Amino acid sequence: MKPFWEQEYLNRERSTFGNPSVEIAELAQNLPKGARVLDVGCGDGRHALYLAGLGFKVDAFDISKNAIAKLDYLKKQHGLPISTCVCDVSEFPFTYGYDLIILHGVLQFIARDRQTEIIELLKRWTNAEGYHVVALFTDAEPVPEDLRDVMTGVFREGEIKAYYHGWAVRMFESRKFNDEHENGVRHCHAMNKIVVQKPGE
Ligand SMILES: C[S@@+](CC[C@H](N)C(=O)[O-])C[C@H]1O[C@@H](n2cnc3c(N)ncnc32)[C@H](O)[C@@H]1O
Repeated sequence: MKPFWEQEYLNRERSTFGNPSVEIAELAQNLPKGARVLDVGCGDGRHALYLAGLGFKVDAFDISKNAIAKLDYLKKQHGLPISTCVCDVSEFPFTYGYDLIILHGVLQFIARDRQTEIIELLKRWTNAEGYHVVALFTDAEPVPEDLRDVMTGVFREGEIKAYYHGWAVRMFESRKFNDEHENGVRHCHAMNKIVVQKPGE
């Protein structure tokens, strides 16, 4: 079964996952002018569009063709120079480092045996004093029935912190919430959010 967002990405009038997250808006105030941002699994681009609108240099990719088609449409509408591609995270062609990498709601869709390698790859392509913002679902709530085929990589509660040994934890949050999507699908999720900063050189 295809995840619910594939259908929602076809609707160009409405952001599938709502407004940019608060921690992204707060962090944007600390980023240097002209900072480079990578939005991994960007969906229809709520964070990419917001940060490009503030003048940051944004690259964004997603494995979903529908997501990138919608983001390409929206970036043209808003006249924003976001570089986009349809890509799996393990195949993204890195050519320079980033000051912020966003992994919002993505890691739980990546198989457990690939997660360490992917996080380490993203850490390597992060500039000194650059940030990661990660939001992921944990096992503190069962996987919703309609996402069982794709949500094969839920984390243990608090586990994400161990991946960032040596980085400064600027924010950590653990919470549960209910959401309802446009097509009437309802979920209860347990989420960990972390904002971490790489040490300087
Ligand atoms: C829940 S959505 C979140 C979208 C966006 N990050 C946001 O916060 O609005 C998860 C997204 O991750 C993408 N995704 C899942 N696995 C991926 C992978 N291996 N590489 C790139 N994107 C992936 C999905 O296609 C989907 O668009």
